Amino acid sequence: MEQYVIKGGNPLVGEVDIAGAKNAALAILSAAIMTDETILIENLPDVRDINVLLEAISEIGAQVERVDKSTVKINGSTIGNLSVDYEFIKKIRASYYLLGALLGKYKHAEVPLPGGCNIGSRPIDQHLKGFRALGADVDICHGAIVAKAENLHGSHIFLDVVSVGATINIMMAASMAAGRTIIENAAREPHVVDVANFLNSMGANIKGAGTDVIRIRGVETLHRTEYSIIPDQIEAGTFMFAAAATGGDITVRNVIPKHLEATTAKLEEIGCEVEEFDDAVRVRAPHTLHRTHVKTLPYPGYPTDMQPQIAVTLALAEGTSIVTESIFENRFKYADELSRMGANIKVEGNSAIIDGVKKLTGARVSAPDLRAGAALVIAGLAAEGITIVDDIVYIQRGYENFEDKLRSLGAEIERVSSEKEIQKFRLRVG
Ligand code: UD1
Repeated sequence: MEQYVIKGGNPLVGEVDIAGAKNAALAILSAAIMTDETILIENLPDVRDINVLLEAISEIGAQVERVDKSTVKINGSTIGNLSVDYEFIKKIRASYYLLGALLGKYKHAEVPLPGGCNIGSRPIDQHLKGFRALGADVDICHGAIVAKAENLHGSHIFLDVVSVGATINIMMAASMAAGRTIIENAAREPHVVDVANFLNSMGANIKGAGTDVIRIRGVETLHRTEYSIIPDQIEAGTFMFAAAATGGDITVRNVIPKHLEATTAKLEEIGCEVEEFDDAVRVRAPHTLHRTHVKTLPYPGYPTDMQPQIAVTLALAEGTSIVTESIFENRFKYADELSRMGANIKVEGNSAIIDGVKKLTGARVSAPDLRAGAALVIAGLAAEGITIVDDIVYIQRGYENFEDKLRSLGAEIERVSSEKEIQKFRLRVG
């Protein structure tokens, strides 16, 4: 098992390049199998979730050719298996996007039912409701979702909750359903728009992505395209909070500043200076951070995937802050770990009440999930002394070269896999 070992206390300063958006890439790679022609996808992040999904795609028979670290060619003409193995869904829930993609293209898909995960119960009833509305028979058989249709037809679907996954999955299937589909109460996240743009570049007819009403006119076939994925707003936001928490000055490059507005607004509220450029954002931390309140909401609200990162930063801000999680039920697992580093954080229901402290101190902590893991790394970078973060396999799911990027900003951080290496690090940093 690998760990990060960190000597905190250095303000992070410099420039960092942001990779392609993992959550957009997961859907776009799945959608890429919906044509028999070859698709070229660029700006893929080199992270574990993406590599696992590419394996799942080649396992069902598609041809996957890695052109370089961030470029892949996919050809779905050789798919012979419409059933995705549980091994993949266990590792990465988002392989459920293959359900919408296979159902749209072949009118038949079998994907194991994903369970809950570390951030709570994750129902997919809205995805299934959408597939049924499009005319599919959807059953759960031996732990798998089996969706089949003679023909898919357009439908008027009102989502009961704003769901990124359901919006994208329904949008994919509806792209190849006969007639017109309207998705109301659709998610508006930038990656929903990116997937719609990608499908449109394959010949789909999707309008309104980015608003809460998406209109799709089904087409019979989709065709080849070349597409570059949008930058990862969550990776970018994570580095922006790393600047704030360490008293640093970081320019995140290759971003779309508009997608970062909720994060930028909060950073300004707590006293940071944020400067926007065409495709970069610079965050300069003040001497003292101020308190604030924040509630996670669907886009364009403050993202749940940025909740642990702001909480860690507020742990070091003057005054009392309240962080409210309204999307997932179990997203404060890191709070106890952060307390062990000296933070004053108390969870009550779906809120965390944080009384800022002057400093955190290094401790051995464990990453409970992807974003909370990254937040604990930020805590370690801001803390006095040595922090060891266990279970970094979660962090590797979604951050490309995390430790290299942090080191290039002046962080003292190493990825290690033994106590001996930890000792060596301790001796080296003194
Ligand atoms: C996606 C992101 C995840 C992010 C989340 C919210 C990907 C791969 N993952 O997850 O990083 O944290 O959006 O921005 O893009 N819900 C239902 N029924 C459903 C579907 C969802 O009740 O059928 C609920 C969920 O429990 C949750 C809320 O809706 O409370 C939002 O979930 P959703 O937007 O679907 O999240 P994901 O697409 O799974």
